[in-house]
Amino acid sequence: MELRVLQNSQEIGTEIAKKVINLVKVNQKAVLGLATGSSPLPTYESIIKSAKQEYVSFKKVTCFNLDEYVGLNDMSKSYRFFMNENLFDHIDINKNNTFFPSTQNYLEYDELIASKGGIDLQILGIGNNGHIAFNEPGCSFNSKTHIEELTKSTRDANTRFFNSLEEVPTHAITMGLSTIMQANEIVIIITGSAKKEALSMLLSGKITTDFPASVLNNHKNVCVFVDQELYNSVK
Ligand code: F6R
Repeated sequence: MELRVLQNSQEIGTEIAKKVINLVKVNQKAVLGLATGSSPLPTYESIIKSAKQEYVSFKKVTCFNLDEYVGLNDMSKSYRFFMNENLFDHIDINKNNTFFPSTQNYLEYDELIASKGGIDLQILGIGNNGHIAFNEPGCSFNSKTHIEELTKSTRDANTRFFNSLEEVPTHAITMGLSTIMQANEIVIIITGSAKKEALSMLLSGKITTDFPASVLNNHKNVCVFVDQELYNSVK
């Protein structure tokens, strides 16, 4: 795994956006794997800005999101809504080419990804407990897209997007760890003091299903983006 320590989350966003923009410039039909949550927001802001400034078209790009909640009453809390608001509504992407796992399609989601040629670049965040997408500790490294029960720690962390813990869904549909590992290139964003333990575990190189992100040690093209303050705290 390559490690890149940058000044702050804005700089990380700028760097990853450059990767995305360069990829789309070279391959108009690029396939992107996308995450939600706070970590990728600066990346999406920067993609929107660069796409406008450099006239980069996303018309032929395909995007696969990592995960989606199950059983939401309020669809404004859905990851589809989040992606529309924070990226898709601001670039010229064809929304028919943007996919989310659902209770209807999850058994075919991996095949759908493969049918589009596989993911060229996958963007990941990480949970405080080491989850990637919603693969919680204990999840098999061989998992494909599936329904996962969210841990208390994940639901607590995501309460900030809801009015109360009770409103946070108990389950989500998520790409599996083996689905993620099929991506050609992976970037993982680790920022903010809450991710201290997760970063230490990842950098330790120990590979265990108790810490799902550790599977990334087995991938040959992963870059870990970390902010300077967080990195200093684990050195
Ligand atoms: C979201 C996702 C999750 C988040 C993780 C970190 O699509 O896949 O694994 O990346 O929970 O969330 P933030 O970035 O909000 O700290």
